[in-house]
Amino acid sequence: MIKKAVIPAAGLGTRFLPATKATPKEMLPVVDKPAIQYVVEEAAAAGLSDVLMITGRNKRPLEDHFDRNYELESALTRKGDAERLLKVQESSELATMHYVRQGDPRGLGHAVLCAEPHVGDEPFAVLLGDDLIDPRDPLLARMIEVQGREGGSVVALMEVAPEQVHLYGCAAAERTGDPDVVRITGLVEKPDPADAPSNLAVIGRYVLDPSVFGVLNRTEPGRGGEIQLTDALQELAGDEKLGGPVHGVVFDGRRYDTGDRGDYLRAIVGLACEREDLGPGFRKWLRHFVADEMAGD
Ligand code: UTP
Repeated sequence: MIKKAVIPAAGLGTRFLPATKATPKEMLPVVDKPAIQYVVEEAAAAGLSDVLMITGRNKRPLEDHFDRNYELESALTRKGDAERLLKVQESSELATMHYVRQGDPRGLGHAVLCAEPHVGDEPFAVLLGDDLIDPRDPLLARMIEVQGREGGSVVALMEVAPEQVHLYGCAAAERTGDPDVVRITGLVEKPDPADAPSNLAVIGRYVLDPSVFGVLNRTEPGRGGEIQLTDALQELAGDEKLGGPVHGVVFDGRRYDTGDRGDYLRAIVGLACEREDLGPGFRKWLRHFVADEMAGD
């Protein structure tokens, strides 16, 4: 049974400056919730009730968001505003939250390594704090199921256009009997399109065997001078004796990188359209907006 989720959220968010100068990118609102709340909700929905967030300097708002806010709660109680009171309380009741600071953001691999004392010797999930999976397209539950059956580690993959491959970790993979599951034979971080083994990109969800910690401990800084999780997974995929096989679940649902400005806008539009309260009015406005844009083309 996998119970623990690790959410790395210590990155600097430079792609979103100046918004992220004093505000963590994970706190930027997607409709009316900070992006990170969707990620914690996803972990909780997959049964992961213990969440460790990897944070750093300037990330205090993350801790405050998942804590109680008694002042606000009593003000809303006095006003009799039960609906908003529920919204304020929701985020503090999702999971048991823990925090550890990364100190220097020395890469995603280093962030995951910071979780070792908390996770111990059991498989665990990693959800990147700026990667938003649409709640209507569950991915993590499928990954946990595959890990339970196959053992080892499981990463989430998505087919991307060849010109996008250089933005991701990229997998060499073999088919299995399941159409959405592949066996990973190699991984390379942000390859040149000419050297990419496939168009299968690693996205921000992982279910990892704890042997990854031993490998990360001896992983030298790689691309960009950072300790890369991809490099450690490449080592695990290359030697099953270390920690079992590495499989990939190929995801074809809706996923947004909220650290990227274009994808952030798409996340807001995509999720706002589906909202019962805001959706009908917003869709109507959007249809007019698009019609006007097309008329102008
Ligand atoms: P990104 O590659 O998006 O880097 O990290 P970043 O620093 O957050 O953002 P940009 O590229 O400067 O805009 C992927 C994930 O890994 C976490 C980030 O918080 C994000 O969830 N991360 C990255 C860490 O926790 N620590 C690190 O040292 C690096």
